[in-house]
Amino acid sequence: MKVLVVGGGGREHALCAAIRRSPRVNDVVCAPGNGGIASVARCVAVNQKDVDDLLRVVSAEKPDLTVVGPELPLALGLVDEMQLRGLAVFGPTREAALLETSKAHAKRFMQRHTIPTANYAVCESRQEAQEALEMFHLPVVIKADGLASGKGVLICENKQAAEQAIAGLFTGELLGMAEKTVVIEEHLTGEELSFLVLSDGKRAVPLVPAQDHKRIGEGDTGLNTGGMGAYSTDAMLDVQMTEWILHHIAQKAIDGMAAEETPFVGVLYCGLMMTAKGPMVLEFNARFGDPETQAILPRMESDMAEALEACVEGRLSETEFRWKPGASACVVAASRGYPGTCDVWLPIAGLEDAAQVPGVEIFHAGTTLEGGQYRTAGGRVLGVTATGATLEEALGSVYEAMGRISFDGMVYRRDIGHRALKKA
Ligand code: AMP
Ligand code: GLY
Repeated sequence: MKVLVVGGGGREHALCAAIRRSPRVNDVVCAPGNGGIASVARCVAVNQKDVDDLLRVVSAEKPDLTVVGPELPLALGLVDEMQLRGLAVFGPTREAALLETSKAHAKRFMQRHTIPTANYAVCESRQEAQEALEMFHLPVVIKADGLASGKGVLICENKQAAEQAIAGLFTGELLGMAEKTVVIEEHLTGEELSFLVLSDGKRAVPLVPAQDHKRIGEGDTGLNTGGMGAYSTDAMLDVQMTEWILHHIAQKAIDGMAAEETPFVGVLYCGLMMTAKGPMVLEFNARFGDPETQAILPRMESDMAEALEACVEGRLSETEFRWKPGASACVVAASRGYPGTCDVWLPIAGLEDAAQVPGVEIFHAGTTLEGGQYRTAGGRVLGVTATGATLEEALGSVYEAMGRISFDGMVYRRDIGHRALKKA
């Protein structure tokens, strides 16, 4: 079986590595991939923002299965185009991906299907938003409707901040593009949890849960990022809570999508807040989370390629899932300046030495390889990952490996998993 993975970050490195472990897979291609992914897949250049260019790669490579990593190709309709051509592709159609690409759409969908989520108002103008604001307690959450690379959510402590957020989104001052729709939401408190399910359009099967660390700074301070680390343990969710979330949230969403004739095939990422009133949905994503996937997939013992293919062929209920008991952790090494602008092209030292630490896998998020030298190529550079019998053990291996890696301006958080460790 030949598999093509679209994307070029840590998530795609973890996907390629997991797919390659399948005894049925003899060829993995990644478009565009990156310097590190080249060690597990053949990388081919592509413009991920251009569906025609992606289709060109698909027709040249003729994979048996294509797996779409990032949200942009989904939003641009890559899956729709491939389905029209009768090609096997893992990922939702543009319409199904609206669960991620429009927050207003997702909130209305959840309301129609009584999926627990924060109270909200969808506003089409600044004036409408100002009026709706009166109905909410403080703090209040103001969200851009569309994709905003994690920059579209503002938690406002007072009314003035909320008014500024509303104005900034509608004028375009905040995101560089004027929003047509803004969602105002009740502020929820609790632990966040990333609950990902695979779906063949009918059935939802959960992956092991994970927790992301979105802020740049230790103790969850500073700017929001794409994610600075993630961990996964058996203790995060017991069987009953997993069943509850499946029944009231994930399977309900998959059933709702099928009933509305927009079946969801792919991975549905349920970003949850574990509130005092029970789990509630903060957001849906229509793709694998990053860095969560880097923590989740090393725990997978069953065949990932088989599971992805079963989703596309509508036979997920026959598929077996097995997971390594215990824990895993992924810590992101980023460039100085991230999430703002960063220097790139800096040589990375110590990768081979770090990979010697037992249980460690190093995923590359933004690197290039030239003349045998890995160099930085983005904000998030590496995801150093390990599995272990306990979270302490996994983190011990990760930080030991991290200590052997260096590049100019390397930054990483030393407190990944701190909430779980404090509780234990
Ligand atoms: P989202 O992109 O919608 O997941 O929002 C990004 C982050 O904002 C989440 O991971 C939460 O930390 C926070 N957030 C979003 N919605 C809410 C809410 N209703 N209450 C509290 N925090 C929220
Ligand atoms: N780690 C959060 C996300 O992938 O959206």
